[in-house]
Amino acid sequence: DWTMDSLVEQTIKDIRKEVGDSDAICAISGGVDSTVAAVLVHRAIGDKLHCILVDNGLLRLNEAEDVEKLLKEEFEMDIRRVDEQETFLSALKGVTDPEEKRKAIGNTFIRVFDREAKKYDKVEFLVQGTLYPDVIESGDEMASTIKSHHNVGGLPEDMNFKLIEPLRYLFKDEVRQVGKELGIPDEILMRHPFPGPGLAIRILGEVTEERLDILRRADYIVTREIKKAGLYNSLWQAFAVLPDIHSVGVMGDDRTYSETIVLRAVTSSDGMTADWARLPYDVLDRISRQIINEVYEVNRVVYDITSKPPATIEWE
Ligand code: XMP
Repeated sequence: DWTMDSLVEQTIKDIRKEVGDSDAICAISGGVDSTVAAVLVHRAIGDKLHCILVDNGLLRLNEAEDVEKLLKEEFEMDIRRVDEQETFLSALKGVTDPEEKRKAIGNTFIRVFDREAKKYDKVEFLVQGTLYPDVIESGDEMASTIKSHHNVGGLPEDMNFKLIEPLRYLFKDEVRQVGKELGIPDEILMRHPFPGPGLAIRILGEVTEERLDILRRADYIVTREIKKAGLYNSLWQAFAVLPDIHSVGVMGDDRTYSETIVLRAVTSSDGMTADWARLPYDVLDRISRQIINEVYEVNRVVYDITSKPPATIEWE
């Protein structure tokens, strides 16, 4: 695509000029946006870009590993992963309110990232994968009181970095085009969006290691079956939620009293509005059976048939 091509070339030139002799740092989340932003900036300034992947223990199965491997091995970028699940879990201990979770996670992230960033001198710039919808949604007071969303403007003043936001005029589909242009494989580019606070806002009530483990296994099955059915790329998001509901079931001769999993799948073009996906019954059936078979802590699966508005895509 000619326009995409020249947009990428121009952005690379601009970044190179702006950064000059300094270095830049980038937080990698495992998602599409931060990955594309990092690869783009790496094209511009090479080894002067330092990437830090903070594994908060709230990611999807294999997510951190896949991105780390890609950036390190395919793109030969400077990336360092720090495993901080315990730090995040202890910050989340006893926290049940959605906004409090976001705050706890956001603050912990900043603390960890700040500590790691100090290990580099010469760093003057911070790369962020902010998209256009993030910019408008956080500029909108209504939206920002509904949910303290996206990671815009979330950094403390004393961090004193100049921001590089190479994707701030782009929508998600354009970001994917840029990524393709840069040679990032579809497997990563076509990944569904994933919220910064991760699985923590898909676990209603307290986030514990055990509940994370249940949700992660259920979520993996959802993704696997949606991919097998060839539906993954036609959906904006498809995931599991752990709602903190126990219900009665039967298994053989025994009565069970176990967790419920909510399946959420939506179509959308930018996440601002969304339609619940009309998944085929047989796909729903396979997901339900396989979750119950493979995740023994779960005895019931329900499907969320609410669009946005009035519901949001996430449950918290
Ligand atoms: P909602 O739930 O508001 O979500 O309909 C719209 C889109 O935003 C994602 N989302 C978040 N992303 N931090 C993020 O980075 C958040 O706190 C957050 N909350 C929701 C959500 O996954 C959907 O794609």
